[in-house]
Amino acid sequence: MQPKIPLKLLLLGLVALQHLEIGAGSRILAPFFFPGKSHFMMTNAIIRELVKRGHEVTFITPFSLAKENLGSNYTEVLIPQYDIWGSVMGMTKAKTALDMRDLDTVTFIKLAYVMGLGSTDFAFEQKEVLNFINAKDKVGKYDLLLAEQFFNEGALILGHLYQIPIITISTFGFSNYLTSLTGIINPWSYVAHGWKPYTDRMTLWQRIDSVYGSLVEEAMRTFWYYPAQNQILQKHFSKQFKELPTIKQLERNISAILLNSYLPLEPPKPISFNMIPVGGLHIRSAKPLPTNMQNFLDDAKHGAIYFSLGSQVRSADFPPEKIKMFLGVFGNLKQRVLWKFEDDKLPGLPANVMVQKWMPQNDILAHPNVKVFISHCGLFGTQEAVHYGVPVLGMPVYADQHLNIKKGTAAGYALEVNYLTVTKEELQSSLTELLENPKYRDNMKRASRIFRDRPLPAMDTAMFWIDYVIEHRGAPHMVSAGLDLAWYQFYLLDIIGIALAIILLPILGLILACRHFKPAKKPKTKSKQN
Ligand SMILES: *[C@@H]1O[C@H](CO)[C@@H](O)[C@H](O)[C@H]1NC(C)=O
Ligand SMILES: *[C@@H]1O[C@H](CO)[C@@H](O)[C@H](O)[C@H]1NC(C)=O
Repeated sequence: MQPKIPLKLLLLGLVALQHLEIGAGSRILAPFFFPGKSHFMMTNAIIRELVKRGHEVTFITPFSLAKENLGSNYTEVLIPQYDIWGSVMGMTKAKTALDMRDLDTVTFIKLAYVMGLGSTDFAFEQKEVLNFINAKDKVGKYDLLLAEQFFNEGALILGHLYQIPIITISTFGFSNYLTSLTGIINPWSYVAHGWKPYTDRMTLWQRIDSVYGSLVEEAMRTFWYYPAQNQILQKHFSKQFKELPTIKQLERNISAILLNSYLPLEPPKPISFNMIPVGGLHIRSAKPLPTNMQNFLDDAKHGAIYFSLGSQVRSADFPPEKIKMFLGVFGNLKQRVLWKFEDDKLPGLPANVMVQKWMPQNDILAHPNVKVFISHCGLFGTQEAVHYGVPVLGMPVYADQHLNIKKGTAAGYALEVNYLTVTKEELQSSLTELLENPKYRDNMKRASRIFRDRPLPAMDTAMFWIDYVIEHRGAPHMVSAGLDLAWYQFYLLDIIGIALAIILLPILGLILACRHFKPAKKPKTKSKQN
């Protein structure tokens, strides 16, 4: 017996060691310029996990993780936060984010581009970033570039300079424009534009509107956005580097895109082999709540409602009458209400309502007494609601939020109201319906089971593919050959042209031949008439 135990232990140890070493110990450069707080829920989660799994990560970021003491393998390069909203406020009449509800899609795409271009340009003015551009002996320093897939494409220049493969993180999940980066055909007939409030089943009018949005975006990207990103690179680096690649050339070297999406929040559609759906990876197991909140929810005999409009939109920007109306409705409920409200001193607060500037959303939604989530339907909050199976009352504001709530109402786990026009009666009846009709909870539980049921948990999937790309030095075998075709080849226009030629040429020949024969016949008929 005795010799067997150490042997077993030794084997176990070897296996454990091997597991620790798979992929570990790589050096990852991670420039993230766009200061969107919610985006960093996903980014931070990935960075933390990479460090935890033994990688060395250099994180260029506008938001610090220093407090988390990630250890010596984590290097933080803090850059100033670009004022994204300040950069676009002049472009619309909106005074706060709440006023953006009825902006049309094209305007909103423009805003996103302007924010992206501004924050890219700004990042290249920071000495912290320039240090990486100007560093000596760049080749061999890093193994992978990890960047955000969100209108900061200029950052990909670092992949070129350090000669390393690239993975991008699409914090917004799937977008129609991604298919031209990955060389696949996107059926616009049922893949709605991501910022239109449509599902995969559209009426004719909705399809026209969605195709219009996708076309305009494609045109804006080609004729305005890409040239503008190229110009930013030219402006900052053309003196330094003789041959500066274009953004398109840089994008050609993206090995994989981690998509912040998963079934059933993402309807089935063609994705390429190197688009990896990892939606929900930011969701950690719930931690205990602060005592006051824990007691508040524990003692909610009739359940509780959680109300938050996310990190960009502020409830405190609602006009006072609207806030009073909300409080009036909440005060009449048996349920308790937790409201993420950015001003601690809210007068006339009913006894069953608690407000706070910041709330640990993940842990609140995990509490079994939380029955309804009043949400702006951002992607992260929607994923958390689905993960924890909490029905949603949606008040979408902009971008993908309209689409997110439409998925929820179509699947029967959510209701939608317009916060600009909602009345006391409408709010009251929507909440009562969600609280008392079990259909919403049942549908949400079903969605939750689908969202959680995966071959590998979301975070492990992301880690696997990151290791994989490092291991295979860029995994070029995962990149579609569609990217190397000219547009007329990609859409088979050359073959359609040849086919048309084969069909039309004989017909044309026939017509010509007929014309040729006609004059010879004419005199005959003439002579008959005569
Ligand atoms: C830090 O990174 C190196 C590789 O760069 C790795 O060998 C080491 O195990 C990591 N340390 C920790 C504590 O993870
Ligand atoms: C793309 O990757 C290849 C192989 O690593 C590299 O030689 C090439 O320079 C890269 N292209 C750009 C534009 O960075």
